[in-house]
Amino acid sequence: MGSTPEAPLDGKICVVTGATSGIGLATARGLARLGGTVVLAGRDERRCARAAARLRGEIPAARLETVVADLSSQAEVRRMCLEVARRHPRVDVLVQNAGARFVDRRLSADGVEMTFALNHLAVFASTLLLLPRLRAGPAARVVVVSSDAHEGWTLDLDDLQGERGYERMRAYCRSKLANLLFTFALARRLSGSTVTVNALHPGTVATNLGSEAGWLRVRLRNLLKRSLLAPEQGARTSLYLATSPEVAGVSGRYFDDRAEVPSSPASRDEALAEGLWRRSEELTGLRWEDLAAAGTAAPLPRSWRCGAEGR
Ligand SMILES: NC(=O)c1ccc[n+]([C@@H]2O[C@H](COP(=O)([O-])OP(=O)(O)OC[C@H]3O[C@@H](n4cnc5c(N)ncnc54)[C@H](OP(=O)(O)O)[C@@H]3O)[C@@H](O)[C@H]2O)c1
Repeated sequence: MGSTPEAPLDGKICVVTGATSGIGLATARGLARLGGTVVLAGRDERRCARAAARLRGEIPAARLETVVADLSSQAEVRRMCLEVARRHPRVDVLVQNAGARFVDRRLSADGVEMTFALNHLAVFASTLLLLPRLRAGPAARVVVVSSDAHEGWTLDLDDLQGERGYERMRAYCRSKLANLLFTFALARRLSGSTVTVNALHPGTVATNLGSEAGWLRVRLRNLLKRSLLAPEQGARTSLYLATSPEVAGVSGRYFDDRAEVPSSPASRDEALAEGLWRRSEELTGLRWEDLAAAGTAAPLPRSWRCGAEGR
């Protein structure tokens, strides 16, 4: 574990998804304290504004922006990326933190099972869409918030969306495995580039995660489990991976408590990762080959835009 885990971020552009509560809000706070311009991404305008106001109250010099997008929708993912790309010619840090569990099997606006849509496809698509902006700087970092809940699970590539039977914890754990498979597959593709990508387990943290099963249950869990970490503690590894000089150039690794740890054998299965990658390309309509051709500071290709932006 590093003794000097964080470095100043003056002038750096940091995007944090799911920045309205829990680990994401604490991560945004940490990045703002270090002087970065932090783009708080959230699905609800009021909650985004409240989070920004709260951080501004705590850190008067904070440079904060908000962007509103429901990341379970691919159109909204594209809109968020376009908005970030329009505001910033470069992104230095992208923290893929937004995530949720869903009690029942529900479909997104695109007809995709919600856990898979939000926890995996949004991460896949937004990282790829922002890659030109990430490549535009001298050294960018992508940080993916996974979980030790991935351990002991594998993916059924023929049933990624729980059509043959849905159970919320299974869907969630598999989505966190998908985070790791994506992280390692992307790191292989980015090898030798200026962009690194790493994943982490934040610990077991007292947040709103699980609120889908009822707020009372979450409050009770947070009250009873004294061993739960506070969100600030839960954000430490995200901040470490986003900022520490100790992990400059490090890519394709998995961390817990600011130290590299082994992930499950399934998460290191390259054939599984490539199968997931192909399915993700099909479901999002994004292709790595197009990205590779897009160059560094290129604007987002027209084919990735949606609605009025794509015309
Ligand atoms: N808490 C833990 O013990 C734990 C352990 C391992 C991994 N994790 C991971 O940590 C990450 C952060 O979770 P958390 O524990 O901090 O939970 P949280 O407090 O519920 O935060 C989740 C964040 O994601 C946002 N979000 C949810 N659905 C969204 C959507 N459709 N579009 C855009 N944003 C959406 C939430 O926005 P709203 O404020 O609008 O709801 C919130 O900002 C997740 O990826 C989770 O899997 C958590």
